[in-house]
Amino acid sequence: MAKWTFPLSLGLWLAAFAGLKFGIRPPIPASVLMIYMMLISVGILVFVAADEKRFRGFLAPLKAVFEGRVSTVVQILVIGAIPLLLAGGVYLRIAPDYDSPFEPRVVHPEPPSQFVFKGQRIDQLTLKNPLREGGDAAKLAKLTNEGKTIYYQNCFYCHGDALAGDGHFSQAFHPIPANFRDVGTISMLQESYVFWRVSTGGPGLPKGATPWNSAMPVWQNILTEEEIWKVILFIYTGSGSTPRTWEEASGGTKH
Ligand code: HEC
Repeated sequence: MAKWTFPLSLGLWLAAFAGLKFGIRPPIPASVLMIYMMLISVGILVFVAADEKRFRGFLAPLKAVFEGRVSTVVQILVIGAIPLLLAGGVYLRIAPDYDSPFEPRVVHPEPPSQFVFKGQRIDQLTLKNPLREGGDAAKLAKLTNEGKTIYYQNCFYCHGDALAGDGHFSQAFHPIPANFRDVGTISMLQESYVFWRVSTGGPGLPKGATPWNSAMPVWQNILTEEEIWKVILFIYTGSGSTPRTWEEASGGTKH
């Protein structure tokens, strides 16, 4: 029995460590884990040292290694492991962390009541998507389809094939491109807000949306007004969402 004392103690110690480290969700803080492990180590040592035969059995494999009664390979492995483990621990402690520091950022800042679109002042509050006027479903479907082409020529690199914000450039940006399937993005915005965001891009965002600079381009420099409204039609249909409207909410009288 005595010759199993060392491997059993080691096994118990490792099992306790694994249980505390990986078995508890949410994880316990490292400092608390360290206190538990110290108590467990002391407990094991007290148990082992309480009986003389057990204690000798515990020390036997250690003595065997240090007195050279095992093969050279085992000796080199054990003696080499000690400085390596210590070095690894020190490295993990001092290794720099490349995560950007956490700073809160307003995702949907208050839009300005007016903004400049291609040299003209536009009133954000009364702005409506002119392409929805008339309510002709066939015409709307055709315009949405044209918006789809515009999307795949301009937006998909960042906002992704499935409009989920995971285009092949997406991971290069901080903040990452908006996921239009997420209920926290365009489905909670009015089309006028989206028009403002698409037209003025990252540079159009007010200070509250910093510190991380948005890579969203200023589309009014690239697309026409109609193209922007068409692509807005598409990002709603393509992501299965609908724009936010106020009319229904305010008493049922539809205009
Ligand atoms: C270079 C990458 C890039 C391209 C290309 C791009 N976007 Fe973006 N877009 C972003 C990033 C990054 C964000 C998130 C930060 C922000 O809100 O500005 C974003 C945000 C948005 C938002 C805001 C959503 C919200 O919930 O606030 C809309 C709308 C949007 N993009 C539409 C478009 C449209 C339409 C196109 C194509 C005409 C397009 N984007 C092309 C990078 C891009």
